[in-house]
Amino acid sequence: MANNKALGTGGRKSDKDLKIRVKTAKGRKVASTKWLERQLNDPYVARARAEGYRSRAAFKIREINEKHKLFKKGMRVVDLGAAPGGWSQVAASAVGSTTEHPLIVGIDYLDMDAIPGVILLKKDFTEEDAPAMLIEAMGGHGADVVMSDMAWPTTGHRATDHLRIVHLIEIAADFAIQVLNPGGSFVAKVFQGGTEHELLHMLKRHFATTFHVKPPSSRKDSAEAYLVAKGFKGSGSAED
Ligand SMILES: C[S@@+](CC[C@H](N)C(=O)[O-])C[C@H]1O[C@@H](n2cnc3c(N)ncnc32)[C@H](O)[C@@H]1O
Repeated sequence: MANNKALGTGGRKSDKDLKIRVKTAKGRKVASTKWLERQLNDPYVARARAEGYRSRAAFKIREINEKHKLFKKGMRVVDLGAAPGGWSQVAASAVGSTTEHPLIVGIDYLDMDAIPGVILLKKDFTEEDAPAMLIEAMGGHGADVVMSDMAWPTTGHRATDHLRIVHLIEIAADFAIQVLNPGGSFVAKVFQGGTEHELLHMLKRHFATTFHVKPPSSRKDSAEAYLVAKGFKGSGSAED
């Protein structure tokens, strides 16, 4: 499987030599082979494994936090679309969440292994009772950060995919406005073409500052980006 070409006379392998190539196998689609090859050669995948993160996505929120200073010790955080748990791991460590005193609540419709300091709900966030369940899991406390890495699996139909993604971001933003403490932050995965004009306008009224961020660990060839809204003005602060 690995490309074990002989070393040159200098004894140093070039990057090309080091790249792991995956041969197509009977029954495996070309797309799966390309995905596997990309995973095996992705430095963030290796770093995530070495640093004990569940996903390479962990680096995205770490990089966003380094730039925007979202987390402080003692803050409460909601993680929407949490599986397999990289963002929750980063947040739990940054705010000092513990099993005895959990400060993070995560939700995903997929099964997840337990994470120390994180309360996990297995639930589709778009279901009507999901926000109330999250608020209950937070013990009635407000949140300081609401972060969403949610995305539906794509259908291949561009217009449908776009509408579904916009809907997810909108309900995540509505939830954030409902539960954030004044001064709180909202982070959400968005896609190229940017955030819908209306949504961005609404967020600008509720937050002091809004940014679009493409963290270095977000794949260059992916349309993904993140919206960061900081300085929540408090519920009822913006005239809707
Ligand atoms: C990119 S992954 C999140 C990775 C995560 N941030 C991490 O660091 O491990 C997106 C997740 O969103 C979840 N998701 C998408 N739509 C959802 C919904 N309606 N309700 C709950 N979870 C959802 C998916 O199941 C998936 O696990």
